[in-house]
Amino acid sequence: MSEMNAQTGERNASSLGQEIVGRINALAAISESPGNLTRLFLTPEHRAAGDLIMSWMVEAGMSARLDAIGNVCGRYEGEQPRSPCLMLGSHYDTVRDAGKWDGPLGLITAISCVADLNRRGRRLPFAIEVTGFADEEGVRFASTLLGSRAIAGTLNESVLATKDSSGKSVREALIEFGLNPDHVGAAARIRGELLAYVELHIEQGPVLEARNLPVGVVTAIAGANRLAARLTGMAGHAGTVPMALRRDALTGAAECISRIEELCRADDAGLVGTVGFIHASPGATNVIPGQANFTIDIRAPMDSHRKRGVNEIVRQIEAIAKRRNLALQVDVTHENRTVPCAPWLKQQVAAAVAAEGYGVFELPSGAGHDGMAMVDIADVAMIFVRCRGGISHHPDEHVDLADADAGARVLLLLIENFRPQDDGGAKKS
Ligand code: GLV
Ligand code: MN
Ligand code: MN
Repeated sequence: MSEMNAQTGERNASSLGQEIVGRINALAAISESPGNLTRLFLTPEHRAAGDLIMSWMVEAGMSARLDAIGNVCGRYEGEQPRSPCLMLGSHYDTVRDAGKWDGPLGLITAISCVADLNRRGRRLPFAIEVTGFADEEGVRFASTLLGSRAIAGTLNESVLATKDSSGKSVREALIEFGLNPDHVGAAARIRGELLAYVELHIEQGPVLEARNLPVGVVTAIAGANRLAARLTGMAGHAGTVPMALRRDALTGAAECISRIEELCRADDAGLVGTVGFIHASPGATNVIPGQANFTIDIRAPMDSHRKRGVNEIVRQIEAIAKRRNLALQVDVTHENRTVPCAPWLKQQVAAAVAAEGYGVFELPSGAGHDGMAMVDIADVAMIFVRCRGGISHHPDEHVDLADADAGARVLLLLIENFRPQDDGGAKKS
């Protein structure tokens, strides 16, 4: 455990925490717009952030490169070159008007841990790779986890044709970023190259704070669906068409949104539904909206329950569309099953938490993470770090320096004590 302040009994912030917070602030300054943090997949600011992260990787004693989909990949060799790796990391894209910790905390902490090993000249019997995943938030294009799916070899290349709101495709954006879209397959790694994938991330919820704990051990990452809905009615004159004769797509969408909220509020098994984006067209004060597009994000702790929830939501919005004489199209743009953290790896995370002197507390992740894709090529575990008020996806997102430091110490200990599963890392039962 790090030093205690004799007077207050509180942990003193160590240099690891200070380095991490300094870099969190430096990365947060790289944004689409000056007053807030927005850094979307394959934009110029995403590229600038990638370059800065790679410079930190090199400073930490790693080789650093950009892979074929825009992930930043650092590698710290083990005692023997070309050994399989323990992969660490998190994402470096953000939502719109984001907090600065969601993603960067895990990535920057992993780099600081490697830098610490490097300063001490410490090599391990395995390599360490740190990955800055390019697209965890999935804000720019309809799908998500493109970076980790490319690494896991599960990227469906039809996604290259997906367009952003300005009509630019993933293919075109990759070219602008300086990458060759015909080579995205080259980002894929194979199972034997990875011993495990471990991600440190802010909790994004209030549970650790309520328990007065700086860190937690994640049990599973909840499954999720994203849907894109389009209602089409008839645009018309706002002054002349009687209310009873209208086919207003936007009021139809409003009813659908309210119904989704009612359904999820009435659910007692953790179903949550969000409409985070809506666009009505043609979009003029005196024109009845002829079309409304909106997204639906649905999650639940149990996959079977989430699937039932999705089916019920679709059934109900179909009925609303029918009653209002609107055409409805619903596309599933993303679906991920719940991913459990591997028990053998979770045990090692718990051991590191306990060895640092913290209570071991397990909690599930309601938020999505790159581990949902990485599980196809490696066992996955996660460490959560407390964030103030449980606030996330909001500029007020905050992690105390002492908690950033606590997370780094746990991750460092986990790395130094890591034992691959075949090496007795798992107690075979
Ligand atoms: C990512 O933060 C997600 O859970 O959608
Ligand atoms: Mn995140
Ligand atoms: Mn996020």
